[in-house]
Amino acid sequence: MSENQRPLIAVVGATSKQGRSVATTLLESNQYRVRALTRNRDSAGARALADLGAEIVVAPLGLGHQKDLVSAFQNADGAYLMTPQLEPQDNAEFVLGKKLADAAVEAGVGHIVFSTLNNVDKITGGRKYAPHFTDKALVADYIRTLPVTYSFVSLAFFYTNLLEYYVPQMKGDTLLMPIYLPEDFRAPFVDPTTATGPAVLAVLSDPDTFRGKTLPIVGEMISPREIVDTFQTVTGIKAEYRSAYSREELLHYFPGFAANDLLVQELIGMVEYAVEYGYFGWEQDLDWSRRLNPDTLTWEKFLKSSGWRGAKHQFGL
Ligand SMILES: NC(=O)c1ccc[n+]([C@@H]2O[C@H](COP(=O)([O-])OP(=O)(O)OC[C@H]3O[C@@H](n4cnc5c(N)ncnc54)[C@H](OP(=O)(O)O)[C@@H]3O)[C@@H](O)[C@H]2O)c1
Repeated sequence: MSENQRPLIAVVGATSKQGRSVATTLLESNQYRVRALTRNRDSAGARALADLGAEIVVAPLGLGHQKDLVSAFQNADGAYLMTPQLEPQDNAEFVLGKKLADAAVEAGVGHIVFSTLNNVDKITGGRKYAPHFTDKALVADYIRTLPVTYSFVSLAFFYTNLLEYYVPQMKGDTLLMPIYLPEDFRAPFVDPTTATGPAVLAVLSDPDTFRGKTLPIVGEMISPREIVDTFQTVTGIKAEYRSAYSREELLHYFPGFAANDLLVQELIGMVEYAVEYGYFGWEQDLDWSRRLNPDTLTWEKFLKSSGWRGAKHQFGL
């Protein structure tokens, strides 16, 4: 297929961990052209995508840019839509996700893949507060009403959370690893930077199989005890689990979160939901992305390939 016959996929948040994985995988497959949406064409992330052959389009995601958004999706055959982490007030993610979907449909995009999560509000009868989950589910519900075909992917907890947000702390010769789950609770985790792209490539390449589906992307079901033990084995660094599951524990290890009480409520609501109801519910096929891509990184492989030894790491290039 000559280059300009390849379908064009617009990728929102193309410099994000998940978006970069999608854009890179699609480009490297030589089956798609990629249009990367970003706020800043001069960022290292955007330039790296341009070097790989992506078309870079500046598209601010804030309110009042709907015309820019529609033109950013013009002539695209498909779109990968994601919402970045936003303040939880006023259903901000729902408002943004809806705008993105509306713009894609107005531009005539053929198939939407949206990165969603479960409706925590509905599942828990309002008992757990996790708007960054619920808003994404509401966007998915909205997309189901639009004149477009769609698939949803749903990412597990990111391994990278420990590198970016819940960074371990060295005490003497021991790395203390405060983790937001009980020590023996196994939850789904994934490396978004390598797992998202292959899953989305599969979905786009076989729309008949995946149309209308919601597909979890999982690297490994793993408990904090196993996370810490594996870290010790791979790095040789002495490490211990600390619980950051309760509000008091979370704020003890990460006092910076106290500046944003809604965020704290949201983090607590999310982890209590995951423990009491199951991150994806209990009955999903959590294996499809690993069957499809046996190279999906386990935590052990992620540690080996990233070389991470406990320091804070930013993922913007
Ligand atoms: N952490 C987890 O465990 C987990 C699990 C499942 C799902 N999620 C969801 O994943 C999403 C985040 O994905 P990610 O971690 O891949 O993203 P990320 O690495 O934090 O990057 C976010 C990207 O969005 C773009 N962006 C546009 N408008 C923005 C704004 N107002 N604020 C911040 N960024 C903006 C930025 O690109 P430009 O600068 O190029 O514009 C940036 O590269 C969140 O919705 C989160 O709820 C997270």
